[in-house]
Order: sequence, then C-alpha cells, then structure tokens
Amino acid sequence: MKPVRLAILGLGTVGGGALKLLQENATEIRRRTGREIQITYVGTRRPRPDLDLDPSIKQSSDLLDIVRQPDVDVVVEVMGGIHPAYEIIMEAIKHGKQVVTANKALLAEHGNELFKAADDHHVQIAYEAAVAGGIPIIKVIREGLAANKIEWLAGIINGTGNFILTEMREKGRAFADVLKEAQELGYAEADPTFDVEGIDAAHKLTILASCAFGIPLQFDKVYTEGISKITAQDVAYAEDLGYRIKHLGIARRSAKGIELRVHPTLIPEEKLIANVNGVKNAVLVQSNAVGSTLYYGAGAGAGPTASAVVADVIDIVRDIIYTEDGAGTIPQLAFEALADTPILTSEEMTTGYYIRLNAEDQTGVLADVTTILSRAGIGIDAIMQQPRLKDLIPIVILTDPVVESKMNDALSQIQALPAIHGEIIRIRLELLEN
Ligand code: HSE
Repeated sequence: MKPVRLAILGLGTVGGGALKLLQENATEIRRRTGREIQITYVGTRRPRPDLDLDPSIKQSSDLLDIVRQPDVDVVVEVMGGIHPAYEIIMEAIKHGKQVVTANKALLAEHGNELFKAADDHHVQIAYEAAVAGGIPIIKVIREGLAANKIEWLAGIINGTGNFILTEMREKGRAFADVLKEAQELGYAEADPTFDVEGIDAAHKLTILASCAFGIPLQFDKVYTEGISKITAQDVAYAEDLGYRIKHLGIARRSAKGIELRVHPTLIPEEKLIANVNGVKNAVLVQSNAVGSTLYYGAGAGAGPTASAVVADVIDIVRDIIYTEDGAGTIPQLAFEALADTPILTSEEMTTGYYIRLNAEDQTGVLADVTTILSRAGIGIDAIMQQPRLKDLIPIVILTDPVVESKMNDALSQIQALPAIHGEIIRIRLELLEN
C-alpha cells in the first residue's frame, strides 16, 4: 500500500514539534492508521540549510510550489499569520490536497472562504490544533457531544494570558516579566498583544462557536477585551470576595441571538475552571443532554500543539483509506448555514459585574451609588469597603446579571457623582451555572 505523503509548511515551535512527533511515534501511528506516513517536503519561508533533516525529505522555501507537487497528499500548514498562509492553503485546496492547519487567525478571519473552497474541491480542512492546544475540544464537539444541543461554552483558551494571571496572583510577579517568560517558553504569539489583548482568544472562540452552533465564522462580531488592564489590586479584592479573575471566551445562545465575548471575568473560586492555572487551558461546555462537561490540558507549546496537529493528520489518513468519495468525516465549518442568527452587540449581552470605585470619605456616597444601581434595576450581590488608599475609599460592588446597556447608563451616572474620583473599574462576573 502506498504511503500517505505529507508536506509540513513552517518549522517553528509547532512544525518542529509535529515533525519530531511523527518521527518518534511512527510505529505507533502506523499501527493505528494501517498506513505509512511519509514526509516528502518541509517548507520554510526562508531557506534553512542548517536543518538536519532525513535525506528523504525535500526542503524548499517555494511554498506554493510544494503544494502543487504530485507527491503531496496532505499539506500541514503550521507557519501562522494570514498572508501568505491564505494563498498557500487556497492553492493546496485547488490542487486537491487535504489540509491540516493550526492557524486560528486565518480560520477565524478567512475560514468561510477557505471551507467553501475546500467543499468545492472535495477536500477537508482539519483544525484541531487551532483551539486550546493539546485539548481535543473540536473532536469533543463534533463527536463526543454530537447528540447534544450546546447551550453555552466558556473557556480559558489563551495559555499565555492564563500563565500571566496565575503568576501575578500566586507570586505577585510583574506583567512584563511573566510575558517575557511565556515568549521564551514558546507560548506567546509572534505579536504578544494578540495574547494580552484577547485577539488570540477571540480567534479561538470564533472557531469554537462555529463548531458548537453551526454558525459562520464571525470574528468581527466578538466583543474582545484583554488582560492588560487587570491590576494586582483587583485580583486581591476579587479573592477577598471568593472569586478568581480569569480571561474567558464565552459563546452563549440566548433568546435574542448569540453572545460571543472574550474578557476578564470573575468566577467563583470553588469552580474547577477557576483553578486552572499556568499555561493550562480548559473549556466548560453546557449541553442539553449531558449537562456540563469540562475539558482540561496544556493550551500551548510544542508537544501539546503537535499532538493536535498529528491527530488531525491521522484522521485524514484514516479518511483517505476508508472514504472512497473523499467526503471525509470531519464536519467542515458552516459557511452559509444559520448566517441569519443574530450575534448580539456588547450592549445587549448580560453578565454580572465587579465594580471598583474610589470615593471620598463622605456620608451618603454609598447611598448615592446604591440608589443609582437600584433605580436602574441592578441587583447588588455584595458590597465591600476597603481601607483608605491615598485619601480615597475603594468600594467594591458585585452585581447580579444585567444587560450591559443598563450597566453603562448606571456607571456614567455614578462616574458623574462629585465624590467619585478616577475611572470606575468594571470586570464581568460569571457564576457559570446552568
Ligand atoms: N499564544 C497561544 C496561547 C498559543 O498562549 O494560548 C496557543 O494557541
């Protein structure tokens, strides 16, 4: 039986990891698939004569040429970035190649066109490695939970951000120092603002929501907020109240439409997901038959991401073997279905809030604040007055869930009170209950 022939494009953290894994576990993989996987090409954007590759592997920096070659059945794109990855994958698809990609930015922003082209050319795009590193969450949604209607999911889906928040909370380390370490460990994106400003998590949430709800990929509609404004003060106050601050990606169905949002979130400290620390990721899925299930594992790094890439390669090899018509078994993300389902604006979304304000030590300030909240119909869950800081009293309020437009109105009224100084801090809060 002839081997399935692979081209690996990109030999950074993920590509290098995938190459190593395919070689180290070749016997195991062969036993599982029943077919040899032969790496015929390795492509890098710049020539890399320093690479000590097996002489049977051809090396080239003409990536478009590689994907046109007849001795390539599967293209593994692990170079990252939108261009030229988009053009190269399109070319691969047009040449009838199966595609495995870890490129969340590309799928989130251009996936609808790519999946359409793949459908037109009867090939598949596999993308397990694009979301939550080594956790097989795409497989969970498309196979394990296939019988369920997914109601919502909430995930810690950026390892770098979780690593930073964990180190800040546990060791009081400075933000920049932890970020540097995440870069050295190969966790962070080429542009680390993608990690700390929530863009990477928004890319992943876009893909998860499309898988979970069957909606088109709509990255531009994800409300996105990062962790760069989280202070040690808020982390400590949240902890005093029994909460942890985590950066969550949340996709939720509601009567009016779908919420897609990525932001720092207070969650009760006793929840399992509140205790997911370091570079680990976790995705909590609430589905109508099985209830809530939680998936946990390493969300970044060479080994975990390569594990997901190679699992996709194995799936495709199995498809090549068992599927005569080439339709495959990996559901391709819906590019037209349910395109009318509204995605809610952030003003229409509903969450609880942690609010921190600095007030002058005057009689009646707290009453003014609580009156504004109560007139707006916003329920208060807890109020905590902290010791005086620089002549001002920090007040922390936790609220019940409220539509954001109402909260915005109330906060502008509170901000206008003469006794309130500085910017009011707000962090969303989720109880993560059914
Ligand atoms: N920068 C990403 C993270 C890598 O930290 O989660 C994995 O997608």
